[in-house]
Amino acid sequence: MGQIAFLLNGDPIVLSDISPTTTLLDWLRESRGLTGTKEGCNEGDCGTCTVMVTDAKGARSVNACILFLPQLHGKAVRTVEGVSGPEGQLHPVQQAMVDHHGSQCGFCTPGFVVSMACGHLNGRTDFDDVLAGNLCRCTGYAPIVRAAEAAAAEPVPGWMTEDLSKLDGLGGEKNDFALPKSSDELAAWYAEHPDAVLVGGATDVGLWVTKALRDLPEVAFLGGVEDLKYIRTGDDRVTIGAVTPVTDVGTAMAGLHPSFAEMIRRYGSVQVRNAATIGGNIANGSPIGDSPPALIALGATLHLRKGDARRELPLEEFFIDYGKQDRAKGEFVEAVSFPRQPDRLRCYKLSKRFDQDISAVCGCFNIIVEDGKVADARIAFGGMAGVPKRAGHVEAAITGKPWLQDTVEAAAEAWAQDFSPLSDMRASAEYRLKAARNMLMRYFLEDTGALPRVLEVQP
Ligand SMILES: Cc1cc2nc3c(=O)[nH]c(=O)nc-3n(C[C@H](O)[C@H](O)[C@H](O)COP(=O)(O)OP(=O)(O)OC[C@H]3O[C@@H](n4cnc5c(N)ncnc54)[C@H](O)[C@@H]3O)c2cc1C
Ligand code: FES
Ligand code: FES
Repeated sequence: MGQIAFLLNGDPIVLSDISPTTTLLDWLRESRGLTGTKEGCNEGDCGTCTVMVTDAKGARSVNACILFLPQLHGKAVRTVEGVSGPEGQLHPVQQAMVDHHGSQCGFCTPGFVVSMACGHLNGRTDFDDVLAGNLCRCTGYAPIVRAAEAAAAEPVPGWMTEDLSKLDGLGGEKNDFALPKSSDELAAWYAEHPDAVLVGGATDVGLWVTKALRDLPEVAFLGGVEDLKYIRTGDDRVTIGAVTPVTDVGTAMAGLHPSFAEMIRRYGSVQVRNAATIGGNIANGSPIGDSPPALIALGATLHLRKGDARRELPLEEFFIDYGKQDRAKGEFVEAVSFPRQPDRLRCYKLSKRFDQDISAVCGCFNIIVEDGKVADARIAFGGMAGVPKRAGHVEAAITGKPWLQDTVEAAAEAWAQDFSPLSDMRASAEYRLKAARNMLMRYFLEDTGALPRVLEVQP
């Protein structure tokens, strides 16, 4: 139990004795009667529970169904009820939805309206991306996107501005969950509570509660650890703090490794990327997490901390086996870093849908060619083993060889030495192996200028 404070549609709320795993969605609907925010999937996939959360860094859309109440401490949340004005005035995106017939059954509509209002506030005009995390089964997207376009020129209504100073001095005391405000505070607390669950963005942990119905006895929320939210681009290395949202990683990668940024554009949805942290995406050890293969291909180092002790290791060594990582009790991911390098990285994500889908196979390639020969190769995959894994045999088969199609074809046998993938609902083992082989060929053809990048053709 504990005490937190946040703004709800502009008004300060102080909650005492809340359970750390109460989701915002349940609380809004069951304790506040704010039933505009809908429950569809309860696992971050449909966006009908979208709310807008504002902190000192700005406003972002997130899914309320996998957001625990303590994650809101010190922030402002705006639901669909707070998107319209205090006298019931429609927000420009609501008026545009009416004008453009953007709603039929209406179940998805509150989520769309909040995503649109948040995009409108932030001046975004990439409407397809802004709305990729909101599913509509009956209206169809064309009228909704037309509504978003029509509202874009209208000014942001005054009532959408949040005044976070109303929260000064409120809440955050007498909690039996931890809300550390710095990495030192987190390190000291976690060393003393090594069995606790750390919550970054809760895009995994949220589902442990809503779908697996797990109790979490001891919890620390990392959202307030501001000194682990950074991306430092130095002359030699890029270092990313563990609590940095995936959205921000995507923004930074656009200038450094655009193919990584493009893959992140297809990572979950806007709402998922706004909540998920890079540390969580690594620490969860998922074999199909998207950032580990890209980071491994870039030669990343993982920085871990336990109490005052720090250590680092090549990222690929962190993933020992399915569900097993090289992380001691009480130890947490502090940062991940990789060397600055000319951009050669290509990330290929294969999934059944373009947007908002987990990878069946994700291959990342970083191959240095000098004087027509492969001088060095780093190739890493997700979805091909129980962990994110390098293709060591394939790398060895092409290194030192002329960078020619024959070399790529001659490496075909090495793939089966590196990987024995599983068959599951996403893809068969045969498909995965063949797709991985073809990805190297695609990289070769792109690198030598032979293949247009078909997936990146824009309307
Ligand atoms: C709808 C949906 C779509 C998704 N799509 C994708 C996708 O396309 N690609 C993809 O890769 N993933 C995807 N995911 C999975 C998920 O978003 C990521 O794995 C995410 O990065 C987890 O980060 P988080 O901060 O939310 O982690 P959390 O859920 O907070 O934590 C995950 C795990 O990491 C631990 N942890 C968190 N931070 C730290 C730390 N600093 N040190 C040590 N341990 C820590 C937690 O204790 C927990 O075990 C999706 C999830 C959802 C719900
Ligand atoms: S209810 Fe579907 S994303 Fe929250
Ligand atoms: S209007 Fe029915 S699901 Fe979108």
